[in-house]
Amino acid sequence: MRILITGVAGFIGSNLAGKLLEAGYEVIGVDNFSFGFERNISRFRKLNKFTFIEGDIRDSNCLKNHKSDVIVHLASQKIPRYTNAFRTLDDNNNTLQKIVQKCISDKSRIIYASTSDVYGKNTKLPFSETSDLVLGPTTIKRWAYAISKIYGEQYIIASHEEFGLDYTIGRFFGAYGPNQNPTWWGGPQSVFINKALQKEEMEIHGDGSQTRTFTYVEDTVNAVTRFISDPKSDNQIFNVGATQECEISIIDLARLIWKQINGDKLNPRLKFIPYSDFGKYEDVMARIPDISKLKEFFNFEPAWSLEEGLKKTIAWQREIK
Ligand SMILES: NC(=O)c1ccc[n+]([C@@H]2O[C@H](COP(=O)([O-])OP(=O)(O)OC[C@H]3O[C@@H](n4cnc5c(N)ncnc54)[C@H](O)[C@@H]3O)[C@@H](O)[C@H]2O)c1
Repeated sequence: MRILITGVAGFIGSNLAGKLLEAGYEVIGVDNFSFGFERNISRFRKLNKFTFIEGDIRDSNCLKNHKSDVIVHLASQKIPRYTNAFRTLDDNNNTLQKIVQKCISDKSRIIYASTSDVYGKNTKLPFSETSDLVLGPTTIKRWAYAISKIYGEQYIIASHEEFGLDYTIGRFFGAYGPNQNPTWWGGPQSVFINKALQKEEMEIHGDGSQTRTFTYVEDTVNAVTRFISDPKSDNQIFNVGATQECEISIIDLARLIWKQINGDKLNPRLKFIPYSDFGKYEDVMARIPDISKLKEFFNFEPAWSLEEGLKKTIAWQREIK
């Protein structure tokens, strides 16, 4: 099977490419390096089964001569915390339409990277795939990301009904691990690791009581490889996240990372940043996935504990310093 990955030089894309190449798949990867890194894909460059296209998928010509059985569509803008909402809405819509059109004309399946952020402020935990999606007002720009992904999901489902496009939608919950972007783009763990390595203050947004369920990237990409290889995943939505034991508050995550890097003797240095510093911002106070559908369909369960996953991630982040 030939798999095309958009955003291959990014975090999840490069980890997925590695897993697929190891398993003998042919991989075509595309990236414009807006948020990806050459170092994430350099080890694949000499492999016959890997083709890299440096280009922007908003340009229709970029993938013209490259057909595949499946397109895993990962390239995306994220929550506009420090960036702008226009780019999130415009890019995510534009790239999605290009990829969906390509899948329809090439008769490829699409695997679409959606996000836990679509559940928004829903307070009924854990979130299952049929839970309500509860967003805040459109005047708060952070919702642009969830809106773009909800639109993406519905656009894909409508394209299935209209044009027979086969799809799998994965709603990813906070992935972390080697190759992550070491800035806020990669998530709080990326920044906390950098700061703890420098013994500098770790910035906590709000009071740090908000919780997340962090998923080691190997578990994320193992779920995506099931979507690729198992036809049971056709035309389904799946949460892709860790077990509930991996839920942790952001302040405890900062403390855990500090302890893993600097031990017990030195107290963590924490600096609290009020949400008002981001303009109008609404955070999600708790995010826990119900992953029973993943288990029921594929007998799949995430294997990594947060402590073990963080050790691997810290070792990698030390190396790239
Ligand atoms: N990492 C997570 O925890 C997480 C959680 C939920 C959802 N997701 C979704 O998973 C996907 C992958 O996330 P990630 O963390 O690997 O992101 P990432 O930013 O590390 O990777 C995305 C890659 O896409 C590339 N890209 C962006 N726009 C492009 C364009 N127009 N043309 C070509 N390349 C382009 C970037 O350069 C980057 O390398 C995204 O769709 C994201 O919304 C990720």
